[in-house]
Amino acid sequence: MNFDLTEDQSLLQSAVREFAENVVRPRAAVIDQSGEFPKDLFHQAGQLGLAGVSVPVEHGGSGMDVVAYSIVIEEISRVCANLGVILSVNNSLVCDPIEKFGNADQKTRFLEPLAKGEKLGCFALTEPNAGSDAANQQTRAVSEGGHWKISGQKVFITCGSDADVCVLFAMTSPEKKSRGISAFLVDAASPGFDRSRHQVKLGVNASGTVEIFLTDVLVPAENMLGNEGDGFKIAMSTLDGGRIGIAAQAVGIATEAMEAAVRYAKARRAFGKAIAEFQVIRFYLADMATDVDAARLLTRRAAAVKDMTKKNGGRYGLEAAEAKLFAAEMAQRVTTKALQIHGGYGYTKEYPVERNFRDARITEIYEGTSEIHRLIIAREIFRDAGLAIG
Ligand code: CAA
Repeated sequence: MNFDLTEDQSLLQSAVREFAENVVRPRAAVIDQSGEFPKDLFHQAGQLGLAGVSVPVEHGGSGMDVVAYSIVIEEISRVCANLGVILSVNNSLVCDPIEKFGNADQKTRFLEPLAKGEKLGCFALTEPNAGSDAANQQTRAVSEGGHWKISGQKVFITCGSDADVCVLFAMTSPEKKSRGISAFLVDAASPGFDRSRHQVKLGVNASGTVEIFLTDVLVPAENMLGNEGDGFKIAMSTLDGGRIGIAAQAVGIATEAMEAAVRYAKARRAFGKAIAEFQVIRFYLADMATDVDAARLLTRRAAAVKDMTKKNGGRYGLEAAEAKLFAAEMAQRVTTKALQIHGGYGYTKEYPVERNFRDARITEIYEGTSEIHRLIIAREIFRDAGLAIG
């Protein structure tokens, strides 16, 4: 087993770190406070090949592997969780399903500009009554003269404020339940496609989270992604990949908080010495470092397994769920301890650790809550044991 990055992955990591430190860091705290969607940073990231990291070069991407993709999301999220999730959505929830399920025409029209970062995508699955219970879709699509007419409401749509293209899920045959859901590629400029103002949140406040209202939106029949009725499977398999991105985001946020805690512990003096000399602080930091490392290993393993399934087939949902569950919960522990090490200063806006603490919280909720991940992992355990339940 080799834990070293390849030469390409190392070079990519250095280039992304430089971009993150020089271009993104000066904006991170500012957009956290203003909530301004950093579309210019997304386009710049696109020019560096970060909008479609593992999309094949012939479709506008960088043609790298999924491990490389996880490194990109970790490095960007370390500095700015907002840009981290924006890139994660565009790469894994938008480009990925078009690459996997799209036809040649859809790849030319949609995937190429998305993978180059010329256009931005969003993924519209969640509804007011279809969060964890994602199959309970109320948005309806009705076939009408070469088009699908779509009406309904979506909520908590990351990047929704600025997206040009929306991977959208709607019921085409309600009586078939999850087998009656279909996926569509929707031009966000279509008449009847309306968005709310930004939903103001605890963290990742500049990620363009909006509600989307669809009123008789006409989508050409050729914009259906995959076959009619395949939408739920497309959504679920897409989220398997998306969860690797969120695990990497959690690792990035936690790494930043831990490094800040180390710096603070060396500089802050109490009782006549640096607090880094107290055993309690050293033990906190030892646990934090172990936690971050374990989460990074689980995340890169999930990415490596996804890479293997691209060549050999098979599934990686279990590895992705374990990585997302562990990394998200790890990020709560690590950012909480990092804030504690900073004492009262950690609770102020003078130090960025409070932003890491707030940003980490969402990783336990979006792209499947920790509770849903335990459900998925338990199902896999029983499937492997030959006991199919639920
Ligand atoms: N890959 C392919 N197919 C899958 C699959 C997967 N990973 N998981 C399930 N399916 C298939 C099943 O095989 C089944 O197929 P058949 O009909 O042929 O038997 C079908 O889908 C239905 O599966 P389930 O019976 O497991 O469905 P369920 O209703 O019990 O739901 C669930 C399962 C795991 C709870 C699912 O609803 C879920 O993952 N919920 C969480 C939703 C979520 O993560 N939302 C995130 C929104 S996006 C977001 O958050 C983005 C952002 O902001 C950044």
